[in-house]
Amino acid sequence: MDSRRYSFVVVANRLPVDRTDDGWTRSPGGLVSALEPIARGAHGAWVGWIGVPGDDVEPFEHDGVRLLPVQLSAEDVDRYYEGQSNSTIWPLFHHGVETPVHRRAWRVAYEEVNRRFADAAARVAAEGATVWVHDYQLLLVPAMLREARPDLRIGFFLHIPFPPVELFMQLPRRVDLLRGLLGADLVGFQQSLAAHNFLQLSARLLGLQPEGEQVRYDGRTVTARAFPISIDVGEIEKLAADHTVRAESRRLRRELGGDRTLLLGVDRLDYTKGIEQRIEAYGELLDDGTISNREAVLVQVATPSRMRVAQYQQLRERVEREVGRINGEFGDVGKAPVHYLFQSRTREELVALYLAADLMLVTPLRDGMNLVAKEYVAARSDERGALVLSEFTGAAEELPDAFQVNPYDTDDLERGIAAALRADPADLTARMRRMRAHIADHDVNRWAQEFLDALGR
Ligand code: ADP
Ligand code: G6P
Repeated sequence: MDSRRYSFVVVANRLPVDRTDDGWTRSPGGLVSALEPIARGAHGAWVGWIGVPGDDVEPFEHDGVRLLPVQLSAEDVDRYYEGQSNSTIWPLFHHGVETPVHRRAWRVAYEEVNRRFADAAARVAAEGATVWVHDYQLLLVPAMLREARPDLRIGFFLHIPFPPVELFMQLPRRVDLLRGLLGADLVGFQQSLAAHNFLQLSARLLGLQPEGEQVRYDGRTVTARAFPISIDVGEIEKLAADHTVRAESRRLRRELGGDRTLLLGVDRLDYTKGIEQRIEAYGELLDDGTISNREAVLVQVATPSRMRVAQYQQLRERVEREVGRINGEFGDVGKAPVHYLFQSRTREELVALYLAADLMLVTPLRDGMNLVAKEYVAARSDERGALVLSEFTGAAEELPDAFQVNPYDTDDLERGIAAALRADPADLTARMRRMRAHIADHDVNRWAQEFLDALGR
């Protein structure tokens, strides 16, 4: 372990890089996309897991950030990560879009692993340091850390939705989870509704009476507030201006059939993302003739995610079956209606796709924020393209100029896609310009600054 002490420490389940057979690669997901530039700028330390079970890895430096690996055994991964984090809390916090599974052994492992993260952070934080804990895998860490190190300033940010009280009440050991979060000085959420749910829960379970956005707990004041997360706009704009990326974008369009309208989906393969609903709607639009395979094509890039969890395996099967059905039914030799890539792509490749896409389809059933929607907008310096966006994402609150849809209602999803396809180019430009102005003014640096300012106070 490191003998150094840090005045700013990030604690998250994952480190920004994963260990793979080819060396270190960027970890998947929005948490890492958002936090990586912040940690780099702050010259702090980052406590997290390397993404695979096994050996102890020594602390190391990556892109100016000190990474402090926490070790997880195969059994920890099974119980704490795939079990309690991703089969219990993840589906429940996403409003039960899949049925949460409850197991006692998973809860025990969750507590043990949370303690390991808290201990690691307690060891490396300097006197009076700021420690910023992240996301649903580590709900117990703030209280554990406070107990070990009352001198610290502790912030917590939840990247996913926080469920309504009735849903949270289903969780076994729900009070422990709530007390875990109340160990923080500041608890941040994506949306004000989530902060409201949290305060209501504190009243219901512990009788804490909120005063505005604060409660008194254990002789301290805990603040709960929304801080909608964002992206590194500068990074995306730089990539979008890069001539290699632009050439790649032109090549993609040529390969996909010149003047065919390109619709794009980019997600982790996760049941919260509405990928199935999107593909089904596309199939119906082909079927009723609103879209023809000669004139349009859908590219769906789906990063493999949590593939040992049964619900994710089943989702993969359903998506692949539906893609096969649509391609079989509506395709032609050399012209498939759906190009499905079950792959992770580099940032450059993603931005080339964003630049090539006439329509970006972001249709989650539930999503804390959704950074893909914001990345698409940031990439479109040409002020072209259209965003079809689920109203159940945090991003929808900030982007009223997207074509907003209810992904549970296939007719509404189809209406939104058709409206975006038919929209007047001048209208699309006006919408894109307003969305770009909002994103430019609300990038991830502002998000972090606002959170840390509020925590510092
Ligand atoms: P989540 O955090 O749930 O995965 P977000 O949309 O908030 O969803 O963030 C996803 C992040 O992962 C974005 O930064 C996006 O660019 C990246 N990403 C998504 N799909 C892929 C992919 N197929 N290859 C590489 N990166 C991806
Ligand atoms: C979401 C979660 C993150 C998580 C990411 C990728 O963004 O909020 O905490 O890291 O998905 O998921 P994974 O399970 O691969 O870490």
